Amino acid sequence: MVNSIGPGDRPSIRRSLSSHLRKNRFVTASDPERPTVRPRNPHFSSGPCAKRPGWTHAGLSGALTGRSHRAADGKAKLAEVIDRSREVLGIPEDYRLGIVPASDTGAVEIALWSLLGAIGVDLLAWENFGKTWVTDVVRHLELDDARVFEADYGGLPDLAQLDPGRDLVFTWNGTTSGVRVPNGDWIVPDRRGLTICDATSAVFAMDLPWDRLDVITWSWQKALGGEAAHGMLALSPRAVQRLESYSPPWPLPKVFRLTKDGHLNEGIFRGETINTPSMLCVEDALDGLRWAEQIGGLPALMARAEVNLATVARWVEAIDWADFLAEDPATRSCTSICLKIVDPWFTALGADAQRATATSVAGLVQEAGAGYDLGSHREAPPGLRLWGGPTVENDDLAAVLPWLDWAYRQVKADRRAA
Ligand SMILES: Cc1ncc(COP(=O)(O)O)c(C=O)c1O
Repeated sequence: MVNSIGPGDRPSIRRSLSSHLRKNRFVTASDPERPTVRPRNPHFSSGPCAKRPGWTHAGLSGALTGRSHRAADGKAKLAEVIDRSREVLGIPEDYRLGIVPASDTGAVEIALWSLLGAIGVDLLAWENFGKTWVTDVVRHLELDDARVFEADYGGLPDLAQLDPGRDLVFTWNGTTSGVRVPNGDWIVPDRRGLTICDATSAVFAMDLPWDRLDVITWSWQKALGGEAAHGMLALSPRAVQRLESYSPPWPLPKVFRLTKDGHLNEGIFRGETINTPSMLCVEDALDGLRWAEQIGGLPALMARAEVNLATVARWVEAIDWADFLAEDPATRSCTSICLKIVDPWFTALGADAQRATATSVAGLVQEAGAGYDLGSHREAPPGLRLWGGPTVENDDLAAVLPWLDWAYRQVKADRRAA
């Protein structure tokens, strides 16, 4: 709920009220245009993302700290993360799901280094992370038969050019451009190649067609607001078959190895992690999963993110200085909501001045304590980014938008006056 409050009449009341206001979300306004209500939770980072509503450190009290993760109790906690994730996401029974080192990056790298090279590969890149995977495959693995399909920030490559006879590497939701694939219809069900999908900013917020995806990766730090320690790796039976029938020509470090003597190391997919996990992070991941179950599972999580996107879309319609970076509304992300500044005054500025302006807008909102981490990614066009994933309350997202308006007007006026 959004409220407003006025200052009291007597000095003592005014003093205690103003201290309350400073510590809380209500602000007194010497500038009449300055919004008067801050979000209760001003966390809008696209990773690590806001903790779930109601999260406190008390949720970690059951963590198995100071104990072995290989003991029965430790393994049970790790297996619980796997089981609850599988249940909430509706992952098919015959898919393996494991906890791996190094967050989403670790999970993607394990997949690329373990599986690629058997046949040709197509790579899609339309923002920073897709481009990272292209660099890995083309420059580091040096695969000869790699085709790269790229698009600028805001767009998607032409999905019709892909060859289902080849492997495919792509990101479901481009976190740094706010562009997601609209669905999985473009992926052929009876393909020969494996589809390797970095889904870290999509999973628990978007509907993923598991039968079209062979390798799916994510980390705990995104949609459920966990800590960024470990990655999750889901493998289809065809991905397992590739692992058991193909050995890449390059060496694999221990933290990437999923097989032992030519067979899948099944233990990894029961919670016997490759190396030592943080049991505090495990407990936090369980806290997020229990919350997800309590609010109604995946449909409720997706609905929360879509409502957040709709709130931003209504605001964008009503203002004239910002627009979605995503060109096609069907590709607008409901998690990493990326905005570009379209005001002609702004677009006439040079690149450095544009970045400085956008940074100042995000900085001003942050200084006011109304919203943190709202700047666009350093590799993306200068602009703003709001995480709208399920842990972000709709009231909070709605409350930060007037602050962006206010900050933009302030920064523009200051720069014009300078
Ligand atoms: C699409 C995508 N891939 C990979 C990463 C890297 O994730 P992590 O830092 O959890 O390894 C991120 C982080 O934001 C991301 O958004």
